[in-house]
Amino acid sequence: MKPTIVTFPQLETERLILREFRLDETDQMALFRLFSDGRVTRFYNVETFTEPEQAWRMLQRRHSRFWQGRGIRWAITLKGHDELIGSCGFNSLNKKQNAGELGYELARPYWNRGIMTEAVTAATEYGFDELHLKRLEAWIMPENRASANLLLKVGFQSEGIFQGKGYWNGRFHDLELFSLLQEQWQHR
Ligand SMILES: CC(C)(COP(=O)(O)OP(=O)(O)OC[C@H]1O[C@@H](n2cnc3c(N)ncnc32)[C@H](O)[C@@H]1OP(=O)(O)O)[C@@H](O)C(=O)NCCC(=O)NCCS
Repeated sequence: MKPTIVTFPQLETERLILREFRLDETDQMALFRLFSDGRVTRFYNVETFTEPEQAWRMLQRRHSRFWQGRGIRWAITLKGHDELIGSCGFNSLNKKQNAGELGYELARPYWNRGIMTEAVTAATEYGFDELHLKRLEAWIMPENRASANLLLKVGFQSEGIFQGKGYWNGRFHDLELFSLLQEQWQHR
């Protein structure tokens, strides 16, 4: 990855502001509400949160990953409302391979309004145009059709299902890999 980012890159779309996570109680509690919903964590490699402390640790991880150049997670807000309603971005950035791995989650009242399509499109554009990444990928549980449809809509393609690829909560899980290359994005 060529540029070293010195300020957090806030993004704007038609309806959204994608901003930096703040290490404060407001973002902590918004993240806690998000991850304490079992429908949000159903297809996720995290346990459903039961304590606000878990949200605080996630907030710190996401914050420090950016400042160490290892990932970027944007807090998703609706324009005119500063409240965090979800998040998207790169869980990891592989500088040698110019690759990034996408992750995202949205609070349930906001599902099915095209919000994550808008947010992931902005993150994807940033990854290819500003970070000059060559490849983006996303690993999802094959049953998570909302996630698959979102990725297909943005332009990702399925590379297939990898059996037993994930392990969490004491079980192995099949995972489906989706990818998008910079040249595919440019010629979409
Ligand atoms: C996956 C998720 C982020 C989608 O966000 P969203 O804002 O509701 O998605 P969008 O409204 O942009 O919809 C994208 C596409 O997926 C489709 N879709 C949305 N929910 C769906 C569902 N439950 N089943 C099937 N398709 C669905 C939409 O119809 C849309 O396609 P279309 O425009 O062709 O109809 C949201 O469901 C979520 O946060 N889930 C829990 C967290 C999660 O699973 N994260 C991903 C881990 S890999």
